[in-house]
Amino acid sequence: MCGIVGYIGTKDAKEVLLDGLARLEYRGYDSAGVALMEKDGTLSIEKQVGKIANLRNAVFRRFHNQCFTIGIGHTRWATHGGVTKENAHPHLSASGRIALVHNGIIENYMTLKQYLLKKGYTFVSETDTEVLVHLIEDFYKKEGNRNLQSAVMEALKVVEGTYGIAVVCSDEPYKIVAARNGSPLVIGIGEGEMFVASDVNALLPYTRNVIYLEDKELVVLKSENYKAYDLDYQRIDKEIVRVEWDLSAIELGGFETYMEKEIFEQPEAISNALRGRVHVEEGMVKFGGLNMTDDELREVHRIVITACGTSWHAALIGKYLIERFGEIPVEVDYASEFRYRNPILKKNDLVLVISQSGETADTLEALREAKRKGVKVLGMTNVVGSTIARESDGGIYLHAGPEIGVASTKAFTNQVASLILFAIYLGRLKNMSLYEGQRLLKELSTIPEKIKAILEQKSLIMDMAKKYSESKNFLYLGRGFNYPVALEGALKLKEISYIHAEGYPAAEMKHGPIALIDEFMPVVFIAPKDALYEKVVSNIHEVKARHGKVIAILSEKDEHVLKYVDDVLYIPQTFEEFSPLLTVVPLQMLAYEIARLRGLDVDKPRNLAKSVTVE
Ligand code: M6R
Repeated sequence: MCGIVGYIGTKDAKEVLLDGLARLEYRGYDSAGVALMEKDGTLSIEKQVGKIANLRNAVFRRFHNQCFTIGIGHTRWATHGGVTKENAHPHLSASGRIALVHNGIIENYMTLKQYLLKKGYTFVSETDTEVLVHLIEDFYKKEGNRNLQSAVMEALKVVEGTYGIAVVCSDEPYKIVAARNGSPLVIGIGEGEMFVASDVNALLPYTRNVIYLEDKELVVLKSENYKAYDLDYQRIDKEIVRVEWDLSAIELGGFETYMEKEIFEQPEAISNALRGRVHVEEGMVKFGGLNMTDDELREVHRIVITACGTSWHAALIGKYLIERFGEIPVEVDYASEFRYRNPILKKNDLVLVISQSGETADTLEALREAKRKGVKVLGMTNVVGSTIARESDGGIYLHAGPEIGVASTKAFTNQVASLILFAIYLGRLKNMSLYEGQRLLKELSTIPEKIKAILEQKSLIMDMAKKYSESKNFLYLGRGFNYPVALEGALKLKEISYIHAEGYPAAEMKHGPIALIDEFMPVVFIAPKDALYEKVVSNIHEVKARHGKVIAILSEKDEHVLKYVDDVLYIPQTFEEFSPLLTVVPLQMLAYEIARLRGLDVDKPRNLAKSVTVE
């Protein structure tokens, strides 16, 4: 959630850090800072509250004619301590010689703080991180002020919690020490220069050769080389991985925001998820990395899917899909509940974890808990090489390309597409006929074109947004495969427009939410022509009878309910099992247009972070 970037080499470090921080801003953005060091070890810190642009202005005002060869930077999303300059990173040690940036949470910071206070250290911030920088200095002094690497290692041995850190010291102005436990950290290898970042996006303009650090690993970066260690000082050989993502894939390419770009990328993203996996003639799906044999999959008695946020909504759709096509009972659990609930897992259970980032702390811990209980875990992630991807026994990559906007859009549709593929795969291992496999996959291949047709309704959706952008509350209702879409539509609206919205199974409305309905309440009905269509139409009547405003997402040519709805958005006809791939798109667009009309920053909504790496 917070972002780290560090640089050592011959370029101007302030340029590299500010550029990298801007690319990481989506991870967290209430304040930011840099520590910049000159060749002689002179260390300067600059921090600002607010967006990276504030920091950039301050840095260039203060250091416009100075060049730095080493530096570390951080963009913060507050956990311990409010949003202030003092709480922003980097944090400085008491002597002013050591600077540190940190992602994660030091859980025993209160105990450590008491220990350090007794030793005479004073604290200027309310953060858990400041404890760590003082602790490192304490060990540094014990070692005669000459070995930053071992001071960091010793400090990390007494720390409990999670960290991704980068540390510099003015007595050793030719190295960065970085380490990870539970917070992602990636090393970029250049020629005569090295980088460290919490996310590969920050490195892409400079290098594609990276090393992913594992938990409890530390690396010492110098401009010409790097050395990796475990916390017992043993050297480790790390594999250099080549990143294939294109830089243009993370730039705006003519769109005003990443969220809009990502909404419009959905046809291509879904094609990428299907490419090479869909074999219509054989009615078969092929995956590269499941790492489970067909016999092992046939033996699975139950699947537990665990995830957070939008990924959890995709998981709910996955339950309907896998139960219908794969004939395996499925339970869906919030990862944050699963990990603390002592879930009962049996020998023939399979756990599927879904996460766009592959770094969400709750989902990662749910995965680890499942593995501790001895069941197989499959990961469905978008970010190649992410922690969840690496720790799963096997998995399915989403192939959505980088998702930068905090509100998840194309990752969601690719999650649903991947779950459809997985469910068909399981079905074909059981009773699904060749004909049925062919029929489903043929229709699935038409989805990208159908999404394009929805995207063409942008101006209609903009007009509709104008009508409803001042509403105070929204209700989203759907049934069956489109009940999770109602939840997702409501989440999209609330996270980027700050309008209160609730998603509900349509039939549940009469058990409570119906009391909310009056002439000021827009109710979004997701009502494509499917098995439950007539029942949802009855719910539309119930809302109209109470003077609610009805916005309906209907299948094309459906004129049956037109006189009962205030606004309508049509989607092309498809199988009901695939309809979430279409119905969610106008809801994403509606939320987007409403938020833009309200003048909000949709890519960086308040209080949110793209990747929630704290629990
Ligand atoms: O990276 P993940 O898929 O694990 O992230 C899970 C949630 O934090 C994420 O989906 C969140 O709810 C989004 N902001 C939704 O748009």
